[in-house]
Amino acid sequence: MNIKKTVLISFLTAGLIAGSQGAFAANFKMALGDAAGGTQWELGQTFKTLFEQKTGGKHKVDLFPNGQLGDEQNTVNNAALGTLDFSVLAVNNVTPFSPSVGVLTLPYVIQSAEEAKKLTQGDVGKELTENTIRDAGVRIVGWAYSGFRVLTNSKKPVTTVADLKGLVVRVPKNEIMIATYQSWGINPTPMAWSETFTALQQRVVDGQDNPYITVSAMKFNEVQKYVTNIRYIFSLEPLIVSESVFQDQKPDVQKAILEAGREATEHSYKYLLETEDKIKKDLAAKGMQISDAANGEKEFIQKATTTVWPKFYDSIGGKDKLDKVLKSLGR
Ligand code: MLT
Repeated sequence: MNIKKTVLISFLTAGLIAGSQGAFAANFKMALGDAAGGTQWELGQTFKTLFEQKTGGKHKVDLFPNGQLGDEQNTVNNAALGTLDFSVLAVNNVTPFSPSVGVLTLPYVIQSAEEAKKLTQGDVGKELTENTIRDAGVRIVGWAYSGFRVLTNSKKPVTTVADLKGLVVRVPKNEIMIATYQSWGINPTPMAWSETFTALQQRVVDGQDNPYITVSAMKFNEVQKYVTNIRYIFSLEPLIVSESVFQDQKPDVQKAILEAGREATEHSYKYLLETEDKIKKDLAAKGMQISDAANGEKEFIQKATTTVWPKFYDSIGGKDKLDKVLKSLGR
């Protein structure tokens, strides 16, 4: 075989392999930051089942839980590059790539699961999806509803802002969350999600915050004792697909992705309502000591909203954006 022919054949083979994620796709990869068993897993599994049914088994989805495909923020980069197909991750880990998404991470904007559903499934959700395609090269096709983030720590019961003093608290690498703890008088430690369990176990940090379902899926109860219902952010976890992978698909596969995403989102909401309370009780039975913040979180709310919101008006696209969100929630 002459050299020209060999080069042509290698080129065609490489093209087929590169295209195997697209038109010829067999198996898609989905990264999950959390361990199996939580809301990310439930959304991912439901999406997988529905998508495989809708495509008549021609396309498959393989789930890789527990940060096996990289920490949550890395999965956004990889999906943008088209080297990863899907990822389910906390919305706070999308915000650094598409700052307007931060409106969902501003403390105490979302005050119930119903409000979280309304925002993500309404005009706000649509606009944020367009923004993530533009800014980060990823498309949001579904949402896991994971519940309010609560504070856990290994040292002492916390009910007031003053009680936080002396605690080393891990937060995601997210400016809004860092600023929120600063408004409460402490400097938190930004750290990737994939490093958090070990850091808690080795007492590099004393605490962290995440929803009950995530605390349980990650077995944080084995290394954390005290829980405080600070409920400052409702944890939303989008299912993202690489926009370049999405655009490579035929229309029927794109339709199946969007439909499976919508239906899995509905399932996620029901799963939260049916499961959260049971998991909270189970964590208490396993020895976690749960407290409410004093005065219905009043002090936490007041300090966070007055200081943090104005700092992020610019990054979320202006104060008007927040006003629009609050208005759509009837506030
Ligand atoms: C984080 O704390 O980094 C995330 O909320 C973790 C998660 O995705 O559950």
